[in-house]
Amino acid sequence: MNFELTEEQQMIQAAARDFAREQIAPVAADFDHSGEFPLANIQAMGELGLMGIEVPEQYGGAGLDTIGYVLAMIEICAADAAHGTIMSVNNSLFCNGILKHGSEPQKERFVRAVASGEEIGAYALTEPQSGSDASRMKSRAERSEDGTHYVINARKSWITSGPHARYLVLFAMTDAEAGAKGVSAFIIDTEEAGFSRGKTEPKLGIRASATCEIELNDYRCPVAHRLGEEGEGFKIAMGVLDAGRIGIAAQAVGIAQAAYQASLEYARDRKAFGQEIGTFQMIQSKIADMKCKLEAARLLTLRAAWAKQQAARTGARFTVDGSMAKLFASEACMWITHQAVQLHGGMGYSKEMPVERYFRDAKITEIYEGTSEIQRLVIARQETGLR
Ligand code: CAA
Repeated sequence: MNFELTEEQQMIQAAARDFAREQIAPVAADFDHSGEFPLANIQAMGELGLMGIEVPEQYGGAGLDTIGYVLAMIEICAADAAHGTIMSVNNSLFCNGILKHGSEPQKERFVRAVASGEEIGAYALTEPQSGSDASRMKSRAERSEDGTHYVINARKSWITSGPHARYLVLFAMTDAEAGAKGVSAFIIDTEEAGFSRGKTEPKLGIRASATCEIELNDYRCPVAHRLGEEGEGFKIAMGVLDAGRIGIAAQAVGIAQAAYQASLEYARDRKAFGQEIGTFQMIQSKIADMKCKLEAARLLTLRAAWAKQQAARTGARFTVDGSMAKLFASEACMWITHQAVQLHGGMGYSKEMPVERYFRDAKITEIYEGTSEIQRLVIARQETGLR
């Protein structure tokens, strides 16, 4: 076992940290307040290689490994989780799936555009009536009579980056009777006829990452833009989420790290009853527990990243590694940010201090890309062999 980072991993970590501290941290509170999408920063992050960290250089990415991706996500999310959300969808949910299942022309066109930061990508699985039970989707894709296109009618909700995305990976039923085996995946160009956007969600946290509903009405998708084979869509969706969940675990570690750091500084500076509050045992107990949970979450997340790298060679699944990392890191993050608000007292409840934003941002990590309940279901099914 070797806990040392490679030179390349240290480099991407340092690049992400520098950008996060110089360009994101100073404006994070303003973006949170306005809810404005940080387009210029996202494009600049694309130029640094942060929008396609695992994408080979030949398709416009940085050509690094999953551990490098996790390290960069932690740094960006420690400055602002909303930037991290956009980054994780571009990396994990959009580029990752097309790299694994896409054709050469699909990689050339769609992965290159998103990995370089020129365009934004999104992932459309959830529908108004189906979230956790993802295979119960109502969206339909039918082959056109001449066989060259699919005609897609779909309504999807909670689409991260939806208001700004140029391309989406979208899932729809090509065989409505076949359940999960009837789902297929498509790459959608939002500038084509038949695509429209619905309401934008007013959210508790990650407010600068825009989220909306989308609709496809008789959208004509060329057969060449189907991702993988017909009927493979559900497995593609689940495999992509296996990777996505590692990114969300990293996001949770980043938010928790920022909350812990702020708490440490406050415990050293703030005085009560004539001494620094960090000298009180009740504060020390919080600091110690926060640190243990933070580092345990970091290790599980890095281990899941390592498992994904191994899987690329062996073909094994890393589903449970990703679910364990996301489950533990998101719940640790929620707990740590809760303690951080408490430790800051009244100031923790004020928008003048960032811990209030960390607390709001933490909550989504327990919900999206599979709730904590779904992660427990995935882990327990695997462990028991029962369904
Ligand atoms: N990798 C590959 N294949 C997988 C898989 C995986 N991780 N998980 C399941 N499969 C396969 C199964 O092997 C099965 O195939 P076979 O029939 O050939 O064996 C098929 O898929 C169906 O699997 P299940 O029977 O297990 O499916 P299920 O209906 O019971 O659902 C579930 C399983 C775990 C509950 C799944 O629906 C799930 O993960 N739900 C949560 C959905 C989710 O995470 N949504 C997040 C939306 S995206 C988002 O949040 C993005 C964002 O905004 C940032």
